[in-house]
Amino acid sequence: MSTAISPTAYNYKVVRQFAIMTVVWGILGMGLGVFIASQLVWPELNFDLPWTTFGRLRPLHTNLVIFAFGGCALFATSYYVVQRTCQTRLISDSLAAFTFWGWQAVIVGAIVTLPMGFTTTKEYAELEWPLAILLAIVWVTYGLVFFGTIVKRKTKHIYVGNWFYGAFIVVTAMLHIVNHASLPVSFFKSYSAYSGATDAMIQWWYGHNAVGFFLTTGFLGMMYYFVPKQAERPIYSYRLSIVHFWALITLYIWAGPHHLHYTALPDWAQSLGMAMSIILLAPSWGGMINGMMTLSGAWHKLRTDPILRFLVVSLAFYGMSTFEGPMMAIKTVNSLSHYTDWTIGHVHAGALGWVAMISIGAIYHMIPKLFGRAQMHSTALINTHFWLATIGTVLYIASMWVNGITQGLMWRAINDDGTLTYSFVEALQASHPGFIVRALGGAFFASGMLFMAYNVYRTVRASDPAEAEAAAKIAVVGAH
Ligand code: HEM
Ligand code: HEM
Repeated sequence: MSTAISPTAYNYKVVRQFAIMTVVWGILGMGLGVFIASQLVWPELNFDLPWTTFGRLRPLHTNLVIFAFGGCALFATSYYVVQRTCQTRLISDSLAAFTFWGWQAVIVGAIVTLPMGFTTTKEYAELEWPLAILLAIVWVTYGLVFFGTIVKRKTKHIYVGNWFYGAFIVVTAMLHIVNHASLPVSFFKSYSAYSGATDAMIQWWYGHNAVGFFLTTGFLGMMYYFVPKQAERPIYSYRLSIVHFWALITLYIWAGPHHLHYTALPDWAQSLGMAMSIILLAPSWGGMINGMMTLSGAWHKLRTDPILRFLVVSLAFYGMSTFEGPMMAIKTVNSLSHYTDWTIGHVHAGALGWVAMISIGAIYHMIPKLFGRAQMHSTALINTHFWLATIGTVLYIASMWVNGITQGLMWRAINDDGTLTYSFVEALQASHPGFIVRALGGAFFASGMLFMAYNVYRTVRASDPAEAEAAAKIAVVGAH
């Protein structure tokens, strides 16, 4: 679909590209999630080949869902939101196009290198140095496009959604560059610049803030635009949103040590991480409440609007996972939950319930607007998708809670003579039913994405280029 390059039109081309790829990578990343979940039920699915083992496909799953699916959703929505709230076109079409193609190249690089076994071994930072450098270049360009557009804005103030997107862009650049400092010894192998406990701390400073800034702050930017838009209500409290912003970004950065409880990390650092994680409950819930209360007076819309349902349920899961996280950060609780499926359940309460649901809601909101249509091809299909996603998430997290607590309790059970009551294999056998339910829940969630793909395809196909071009015209101030 082509758009005339005109200063009076938004650059929707790049938004459309990222929006479509969100759906494509969502299907692939979640499909792979279902596959690795099935490998844990039926180990034969590892096929005795190095490329298809769980150990190599698991990091490909995390890279695809976080960076390909989540990343494309963040690029698409941030480019859309920044243009509409600043009433101006992106500062550069070519730089924006570079971010699209560069990002897709990084993802394809991950799809090729991770199954081959090339990895730094650092979780969520597995990509070897040539791809990590490309990623850094794309990210800095993204920052130039985003902040350049803010600078040339036609509006007086900067809408709070952009604050969140801005913090997510700046902090992600900082985390990625610092954590990836390494010494390459060949084209596909590098060694971290840090060692021992320092290396572990920097990795989890990165890892936790990948959660805090990539999987949370960016998506809160999405929340602050799409929830009020879809509910057709102003945000509940602008003042609360500012407090929410500063409290969240000040606190998140300190919580990383909760990933390293009972390790060689100094004890004071572990306790500090725990304390900061507990305090983090306050801004997290402040933001969740701000989003939820935006629906005051508009709750009835939930009956008829499945897009709004996606957005509101995502906030409910956000509230749930940010209550669970601080609890798991308490050292005594973590001594039970760590290494178990409870962590995996917590991850997916955030990943499926919050990150994926809000992205899906935002994409459904944007697609008709990007292609000049009044609405999506089928509201009934959005509703079907909503139920598949909700039931899938609940099956996933409930089975992992049961498994996690079972595993934790079985591992620590001790006989009177001090020997272990259960062998590891017994705990694994006890986990088998939970693994089946999780794979089923994942299949529900992933199949919902297929309905989405069909619905998006029909909506895009029904659009003609003139309609799409007219949709990109910059609206008058106040109408964003
Ligand atoms: C106040 C907010 C949160 C706190 C304090 C928190 C805390 C925690 C804790 C204590 C763990 C377990 C660490 C371990 O035992 O190894 C954990 C793991 C994790 N959390 Fe959260 N969490 C929060 C919110 C979220 C959200 C909203 C998401 C997703 C969007 C998320 C994603 C993850 C991931 C991916 C891991 C697994 C990391 C790994 O070991 O690979 N968390 N979190
Ligand atoms: C159909 C949906 C999905 C299924 C079936 C699925 C399945 C899985 C499985 C089986 C694992 C490995 C668990 C283990 O090692 O025991 C995993 C890990 C993970 N997945 Fe998913 N997943 C899905 C969607 C997602 C999404 C949408 C995200 C993020 C936005 C995500 C983020 C992660 C992360 C961060 C981990 C690593 C957790 C950790 O190390 O603690 N997943 N997933």
